[in-house]
Amino acid sequence: MTSVPVHGEEDRLAEDGRRIGGASQASGDATGSAGGATGSAGGASRAIGDASRLSALLAQTPVVPVVVIDDASNAVPVARALVAGGLPIVEITLRTAAAIEAIGAVAADVPEAHVGAGTVLSEEQARTAVAAGARFIVSPGLDEGVVSAAGELTVPIMPGVTTPSEVQRAWNLGLRVLKYFPASLAGGIPMLKALGAVFRDVKFIPTGGISAKNLRDYLEVPAVTACGGSWLTPSSAIAEGEFGEITRLAAEANAIASEAKG
Ligand code: 3PG
Repeated sequence: MTSVPVHGEEDRLAEDGRRIGGASQASGDATGSAGGATGSAGGASRAIGDASRLSALLAQTPVVPVVVIDDASNAVPVARALVAGGLPIVEITLRTAAAIEAIGAVAADVPEAHVGAGTVLSEEQARTAVAAGARFIVSPGLDEGVVSAAGELTVPIMPGVTTPSEVQRAWNLGLRVLKYFPASLAGGIPMLKALGAVFRDVKFIPTGGISAKNLRDYLEVPAVTACGGSWLTPSSAIAEGEFGEITRLAAEANAIASEAKG
């Protein structure tokens, strides 16, 4: 990684953003086959903007709701409910036919939200999601093609990892913020502490098996920068239009996160 001089708040956020990957790739810092996208200057600054914004949001509210939308008309009320509970980041998973329309609707109608695409398995899915309005990409695993596509699209990417070899591969692609998935099954907090002890400049977003019950314990691990999960948007609450319940769950998580990280 090329080291970048840091001066002042804007530069600090830009530096934080590089840790998430988008700006790193756009500025050509990333090494390996997937790195070094040669986007336009405008693309690079968008990457820095998006990565810095995401980084700032994660620092403020280190919780990433993982949302499964079956009916696109529910996307906007779900996003508004999360924002009302203090959680502006919304990861809409590409597991349903409605996902791309849902991302587009949130991007267009909920400017307070920061919408991204989850469960991105291919380069084509990454392109479709970003075209629809996704401002970050999350994958369950580490795939060089998807990382490279995110670099070309100049959006931050957080690929999933569970092992030291995967963390090392991601590190060599220039990435410093990684999803740790499925967290509870892959080794949970002891494994995150072990990985954090070795990969000192990598931060993790554990996802999978996180809830209000264990959120604080995960967030207190120094290597954990945020936690993700679907517990904030239960499918039953979405289907029944109980958006107040989603706001309640978001506010509860926000309060736990403030205590843990504050
Ligand atoms: C994900 O896509 O990140 C996981 O499905 C979320 O896991 P969870 O449902 O256990 O929160």
